[in-house]
Amino acid sequence: MVFVSESLLSLAVTVSLLALRANASPFLGISNSSRPEIDVVGPSTMGGVVCLPNFFPMQDFDPMSPKSVDSYSLPQYDESGYIGPSKDIDPDVLALVNNMTLQEKIGQMSVSHVYNFVGCDGQINRTSLEYAFNVLKLGFIFGSPSDAYWRWGFNSPQRFANFSNTIQQIALSSGSKIPVMYGIDSIRGANYVKGATAFPTPLSTAATFNPIHAYNTGKIGAKDTRAAGQQWIYGPGSDLNVNKMWSRNFESYGEDPYLNGQMVYHNVKGLQGNYKKDRSRVAATFKHFIAYSATYNGKDQEPRYVPMNYLLEYHVPPFKKAIEAGAATGMESYGSLNGQDVVSSKNILKNLIRDELEFYGPLSTDSNENFSQFTKHRTAFNASDATIQMFNNTSIDIQLMYDASQFILLTPQLVQSGKVSQSRIDQSVSRILQLKKDIGLFESPYSDPSLIDTVGSLQDVELARDAARESIILLKNENNILPLSPNEKVLYVGYSFNSTRYITGGWNVHAYGPNDYEGDAIYAGYGDTILLGVEKITGQDANWITGYTIDGVRVDGYETIVREARKADKVVFCFGQNAKIQALGNVNTLKMAHDQYDIAKRLAEETTTPIVLLLTQNQPFSLGELSTLADGIINANLPGVYGGLPIAEALFGVFSPSGRQSYTYPKYDYQSMTTYFTPIWNEYAPEFAFGQGFGYNNITYSNITVSSETLSASNPLTVSITATNNGKLPQMEPALMFTTQTIRRGYSPEKYRLRAFDKKLIAPGASYTFTFNLTAQEMMFYNIDLEKVLEEGPVDITINAFNKNAKVKSIYMNGN
Ligand SMILES: *[C@@H]1O[C@H](CO)[C@@H](O)[C@H](O)[C@H]1NC(C)=O
Ligand SMILES: *[C@@H]1O[C@H](CO)[C@@H](O)[C@H](O)[C@H]1NC(C)=O
Ligand SMILES: *[C@@H]1O[C@H](CO)[C@@H](O)[C@H](O)[C@H]1NC(C)=O
Ligand SMILES: *[C@@H]1O[C@H](CO)[C@@H](O)[C@H](O)[C@H]1NC(C)=O
Ligand SMILES: *[C@@H]1O[C@H](CO)[C@@H](O)[C@H](O)[C@H]1NC(C)=O
Ligand SMILES: *[C@@H]1O[C@H](CO)[C@@H](O)[C@H](O)[C@H]1NC(C)=O
Ligand SMILES: *[C@@H]1O[C@H](CO)[C@@H](O)[C@H](O)[C@H]1NC(C)=O
Ligand SMILES: *[C@@H]1O[C@H](CO)[C@@H](O)[C@H](O)[C@H]1NC(C)=O
Ligand SMILES: *[C@@H]1O[C@H](CO)[C@@H](O)[C@H](O)[C@H]1NC(C)=O
Ligand SMILES: *[C@@H]1O[C@H](CO)[C@@H](O)[C@H](O)[C@H]1NC(C)=O
Ligand SMILES: *[C@@H]1O[C@H](CO)[C@@H](O)[C@H](O)[C@H]1NC(C)=O
Ligand SMILES: *[C@@H]1O[C@H](CO)[C@@H](O)[C@H](O)[C@H]1NC(C)=O
Repeated sequence: MVFVSESLLSLAVTVSLLALRANASPFLGISNSSRPEIDVVGPSTMGGVVCLPNFFPMQDFDPMSPKSVDSYSLPQYDESGYIGPSKDIDPDVLALVNNMTLQEKIGQMSVSHVYNFVGCDGQINRTSLEYAFNVLKLGFIFGSPSDAYWRWGFNSPQRFANFSNTIQQIALSSGSKIPVMYGIDSIRGANYVKGATAFPTPLSTAATFNPIHAYNTGKIGAKDTRAAGQQWIYGPGSDLNVNKMWSRNFESYGEDPYLNGQMVYHNVKGLQGNYKKDRSRVAATFKHFIAYSATYNGKDQEPRYVPMNYLLEYHVPPFKKAIEAGAATGMESYGSLNGQDVVSSKNILKNLIRDELEFYGPLSTDSNENFSQFTKHRTAFNASDATIQMFNNTSIDIQLMYDASQFILLTPQLVQSGKVSQSRIDQSVSRILQLKKDIGLFESPYSDPSLIDTVGSLQDVELARDAARESIILLKNENNILPLSPNEKVLYVGYSFNSTRYITGGWNVHAYGPNDYEGDAIYAGYGDTILLGVEKITGQDANWITGYTIDGVRVDGYETIVREARKADKVVFCFGQNAKIQALGNVNTLKMAHDQYDIAKRLAEETTTPIVLLLTQNQPFSLGELSTLADGIINANLPGVYGGLPIAEALFGVFSPSGRQSYTYPKYDYQSMTTYFTPIWNEYAPEFAFGQGFGYNNITYSNITVSSETLSASNPLTVSITATNNGKLPQMEPALMFTTQTIRRGYSPEKYRLRAFDKKLIAPGASYTFTFNLTAQEMMFYNIDLEKVLEEGPVDITINAFNKNAKVKSIYMNGN
């Protein structure tokens, strides 16, 4: 029932296109609004030279900053209900499509990176830009000039908006005169805009088990992105964290399909809101369709082999939620799935995404997938053949490339010779122009300068800090080593203790984070460090020794560390990681850098000072014996530029941690693909389980009750359970409801499946009763014939599986 029917959608749109062609509707009126004046300080010179060479070691920072007003308010539009792409294209959009030349249409379908259009002097290269619009009729640009080795490492929203608006002005006055749409990787806030509020990474956000943070990240990130003149962002990452060796681990919302889907849903809502009216919101992109994360070797952009029933059961649900939330665009994934290139797969990019999931918006390639079938995968004879396969077999609308000119120049011939149909092109261009209309580009093509002052507002920073606070996971606390007390002598070891960039990770100023010349200075005060947080709380200088580099390589002071540790009450080891993404972030093992491991082990053996491990990393590196030797372990993942103070607050018990593992933390390399939803009889013995984590308070659960002991398709249940805070601090408490069908004929049930979660603040001494629904429909699963079925059997409902306060209730599920 899944991969069967031809697209009804394409038939419907073709018919309406034909019908409307006869009606010659009025064209879209392009706004006559003029480019806003934004005051921008020009480039300074060094020794009279404006143009600095690429990779010039002394970066010239943008002297400008946003005003970052303390608070602000923006118009609130109705965001309820479905607001997203529709099957129908507006008549004025169709009329415009029908008025375009073939070359204009192919150009509309193409995206090139801004690096093609900037010079070393930081000015726009008008020659190349005018060529792009006049000759190539380019429809989109993407990327940050800070990834193009230009003069400024990090653009203030003023400079960025001036840059984007200048490009828009050239687009509106050249070539097809259709507004250009600008896309960028704002994956957790507008991470390419100086002063913009960077939130925790998606993986950290998932650890909050509180979707409001995914919403806030989207909403604030959209506003700050739009302030800088971009309207399209490449997120949410909706991949499951299957292989934890993957360099892009931090970009997804965890390994569980339900948790991931909830976060994706709310992130899309936050990013887009009512994007058809609200000019402070952007178009989101679910990515990367599909199973990008499931490579066996854990390396980026490698082949995947995922059985189709497994794909539908686990990988598809987050994407389904993105589409349900109204995601305006989607992006396919690199490489191949089950031997077939995704970029030319009819099964994936037509049958599944359009017919089955009913996605109506524009679908983009991932960047530089151009002709990969020919140049890399050897599944096409040449670039033309690659393009023909892509058009004929998939519903891809947008070609995202560093330089789209080859595609743009080659494709018209393929249409003229009949190898690619005109209606296929028209359908894509219609979806694209409808998006440009919906996001407001025809009505207000330029950025709204009034948004600039709100960038970096304290109001937003507090939301980012709250997200970071709730994302911090306490995993071990022997003898109540934590929280620390300001009266204790604490020794801190490790590079990441005094670093903003390394607690933030990739997609942060640049794709690979700030470079060594820029360091933390690039943030110009927009951000903090764990050190700053600790000093703020204790009111004293922190006793800190670097010890090892961010890569875990010994620098010096190991003897001093041992000496200082003997004098200290406690030692906190900060283990971090360099910010890298994609292939540059590939690792061969999850073993920790040994110099770093050795000094921690040596302290455990040679001193009696108790040890806390504080982890701020992308890949979960194996802790080995340190997991037993340490008394306390905190996993803070990558909490973002404002994560330093929240980490310090967690260490000192200013609040009680409430994060839970959003993925399985492996103990050994062989477990890098282990997920908690492994078959019931299979080993699940990781270092830390999915959902694991606790706080400083003793929270007890009692009185688990179900509304009925029998579950069936017509008889859903409610499950309730009371949590009591026996501690001294207020507790944000997440309750996670899992099910285990303990017998399932024919298909071994999973050890557990997360079905619901909720999080509430519980005051000391107080109780809260969580209530969850459970339906038999949720318990259905895909069999090998790709049918979704229900099998009867006993079911255990477990609240907080993998934690000490877990509670279980058994019921029986009927098969219909
Ligand atoms: C330009 O915009 C103004 C107000 O924004 C409007 O009154 C005027 O009619 C527009 N002119 C054209 C030619 O569209
Ligand atoms: C702002 O944009 C204008 C082009 O419209 C350009 O001439 C000017 O140099 C830009 N200013 C800076 C400082 O980039
Ligand atoms: C678009 O419309 C204009 C005005 O009606 C007309 O002059 C032009 O030829 C049309 N272009 C195409 C490609 O249909
Ligand atoms: C601008 O781009 C053109 C090619 O389009 C190139 O020849 C020229 O050198 C560039 N100018 C600068 C200042 O980078
Ligand atoms: C592309 O479509 C053709 C026929 O429509 C089919 O034979 C071929 O297997 C498809 N290729 C892929 C990669 O889906
Ligand atoms: C590409 O390969 C196909 C199939 O072999 C061939 O028919 C076509 O002429 C080639 N095109 C170019 C531009 O070489
Ligand atoms: C692509 O599809 C068109 C019709 O839709 C057909 O004429 C053409 O032969 C197909 N090309 C390939 C290479 O499958
Ligand atoms: C895509 O084109 C760019 C040039 O724009 C080239 O550098 C890159 O290698 C191409 N990618 C593939 C997969 O062929
Ligand atoms: C922390 O790092 C900054 C540079 O980012 C440096 O200026 C400062 O001195 C460091 N703090 C300590 C205590 O070493
Ligand atoms: C938690 O509180 C309960 C109820 O007061 C008590 O029975 C239990 O021993 C406590 N557990 C711990 C670990 O303190
Ligand atoms: C559990 O239920 C019993 C009986 O209904 C009640 O007396 C008790 O207060 C409940 N406990 C909590 C913590 O709500
Ligand atoms: C449970 O289901 C009822 C009835 O469908 C609904 O009103 C309620 O909102 C649901 N509760 C939760 C927590 O989803």
